[in-house]
Amino acid sequence: MKNLVILSGAGISAESGIRTFRDAGGLWEGHDVMEVASPAGWLKNQELVLDFYNQRRKQALSAEPNLGHQIIADLEAHFEVTVVTQNVDNLHEKAGSSHVIHLHGELFKSRSICHPELIYDVDGWELKTGDLCEKGFQLRPNIVWFGEDVPLMDAAMKEVKNTDILIVIGTSLQVYPAASLIHYARDDVPKYIIDPNMPTIAKQTDLHLIEKGGSEGMKELEELLLG
Ligand code: OAD
Repeated sequence: MKNLVILSGAGISAESGIRTFRDAGGLWEGHDVMEVASPAGWLKNQELVLDFYNQRRKQALSAEPNLGHQIIADLEAHFEVTVVTQNVDNLHEKAGSSHVIHLHGELFKSRSICHPELIYDVDGWELKTGDLCEKGFQLRPNIVWFGEDVPLMDAAMKEVKNTDILIVIGTSLQVYPAASLIHYARDDVPKYIIDPNMPTIAKQTDLHLIEKGGSEGMKELEELLLG
């Protein structure tokens, strides 16, 4: 089977009712992203940050994958599929995708503030002050915040370098290093970009633009790939 890599961003979850970042005018659910998604924000107001991600978890628990997620999961019948997502929700997994790399972390995981290797599942939706790792340190959301390293970047780069087909869906390609991944694909690899509001992309070989929403765009691409 051919390898197929999907790079997804907030737009794939838009039809499931989860708002994108940059379509909301620089605010993320009413908050300045630096207040809720940076180490400085955490130091300034831990309660606000915990509460913010608790609300996101609550929302994700009731959200359902949409047709776009579903088609991506179904492509596993025809390709070796790897999803590299910038999303912290679990909608790709809920749809049935079995190999998902969460570049920016996962809502349903927490980690120790002092021992980053200590990572735990979050049961339900709430993470509170006083929830501690086994060594007695506070747990924080296991999200890659602005200014932090992206530990899974090397794994993602490897997948993109080895892929035979690349699909980029629902990302404004404004956040690095994630946005640079597209450049690691071989020149002969067809690259399909699906977005209703096409992001600016540096010159690429074999580039195909599908200016549509996630479900409609994936439907069109599925027909192109499977004939
Ligand atoms: P953005 O909000 O920057 O971009 C979302 C993209 O989805 C835009 O290009 C939209 O045009 C597109 N879009 C909107 N509706 C869509 C639909 N129905 N179907 C398909 N696409 C649609 O989100 P990301 O690029 O994912 O980081 O943002 C990257 C990172 O910035 C996020 O992972 C997050 C944020 O700060 C962290 O939380 C660390």
